[in-house]
Amino acid sequence: MDDSRLRVLIPEDRLQARIVELGAQIRADYGNGVITCIGVLKGSFMFMADLVRAIGGDVRCEFLGVSSYQGGTRSTGVVQITQDLRHAIEDQDCLIIEDIIDTGLTMDYLYKMLEVRQPNSLKTCTLLDKPAHREAEVTPEYVGFSIPDEFVVGYGLDLGELYRNLPYIGVYRP
Ligand code: IMP
Repeated sequence: MDDSRLRVLIPEDRLQARIVELGAQIRADYGNGVITCIGVLKGSFMFMADLVRAIGGDVRCEFLGVSSYQGGTRSTGVVQITQDLRHAIEDQDCLIIEDIIDTGLTMDYLYKMLEVRQPNSLKTCTLLDKPAHREAEVTPEYVGFSIPDEFVVGYGLDLGELYRNLPYIGVYRP
């Protein structure tokens, strides 16, 4: 891993502080109810782990496997489901947890795919929002940070499967 190509955009302490705030806001909005958190793999795995602890109370953890990049830095626009949910979500209060929304095509696809399964409610939460290149109209209810149009890695986000284990969000300079 060549760290000289990375610039820290969001340091670990800011990430963690914001996640605590998001968790408290989400729990306050849902009251004491059970929240079915649906993490979008692989990118959201680290965020999901910290967020569900910050939400507290009764939470179900489900995962969807999705591949929208074929190893590069541009969305292909083709969303491939590599792992579906293990359980039905009918009548449940569901929250889709994403690492980043860029074009919005992935979130738009997932939202429509889950909506037809008739959850009681369906909301979206993304750690990072990159609104510069929106192609689909998606408005996440919960956003950690809005960021400029740069390719970021770390804290779950990868470039060619590397950098996911960084504890901060960095900008990758090729
Ligand atoms: P979208 O469909 O263009 O909104 O892209 C969503 C997916 O693309 C995310 O879940 C990420 O996996 C990936 N992605 C988008 N921007 C970045 C980035 O800056 N770094 C790493 N992955 C990204």
